[in-house]
Amino acid sequence: MDELADGTAVVIDVLRATTTIVTALAAGATRVIPCVGVEEARWLAHERYRGARLGGERGGLTIEGFDFGNSPAEYMAEHIAAKTLVFTTTNGTQALRHCERAKEVLIASFLNVAAVAQQLVDRQVIHLVCAGTDGTITREDVLLAGALVVQLCELRVKDPTLNDEAELAADAWRETRRSVADGQELAYFLRQSRGGQNLAAIGHETDVTAAARVDCHPIVPRYDTVTGEIVIVAGHSVAG
Ligand code: MLT
Repeated sequence: MDELADGTAVVIDVLRATTTIVTALAAGATRVIPCVGVEEARWLAHERYRGARLGGERGGLTIEGFDFGNSPAEYMAEHIAAKTLVFTTTNGTQALRHCERAKEVLIASFLNVAAVAQQLVDRQVIHLVCAGTDGTITREDVLLAGALVVQLCELRVKDPTLNDEAELAADAWRETRRSVADGQELAYFLRQSRGGQNLAAIGHETDVTAAARVDCHPIVPRYDTVTGEIVIVAGHSVAG
């Protein structure tokens, strides 16, 4: 999208695409290749990246013939370390591809929120791109966008200029953070979101808990829009 061309895009799909990408890279995947279509993913895994693992979902469920679905827990080091992952999801990988005109594209989840905020400190123009669900905004993505805004405000010497959406996201996060400080779990709020409800309906509640593990993987993945590959640019995987 042209409006992204002036800055850094940060793609957010808490439940679950960006959480799963961060998990796979933290577990030692060499690279993640996001793609929009299932056939494109099959072709890439069989022709261009031979030996690659195939992962993703449609309707929240594992795609026929794929090695993994979209549950972070599936991406353990013994299955994914040193492998290329070709990955397609309903909304998250589309959001990534929509950011192809941006100067730089980073991938955020609650698992790496502080590392991403730190990486953004000296960027002039930042677009937080929430994948949502089928074109509508979802609370879990807004909360993470708000967490990034709040952390950036805390990290920067000068206050950044925020648009109204960023202010609203920050307000939503500050309210949630207060409840978390009072002992309520972040997973509780993610469960109440639209994405959380969708996952509960297909028996994937545990993925919500996995998505709420704040800062457990301090890595920054970047999507190189020329090569089409997502790799770690700051921090490192368990494999080193
Ligand atoms: C997506 O990209 O649409 C999601 O991550 C959906 C899901 O995980 O079920």
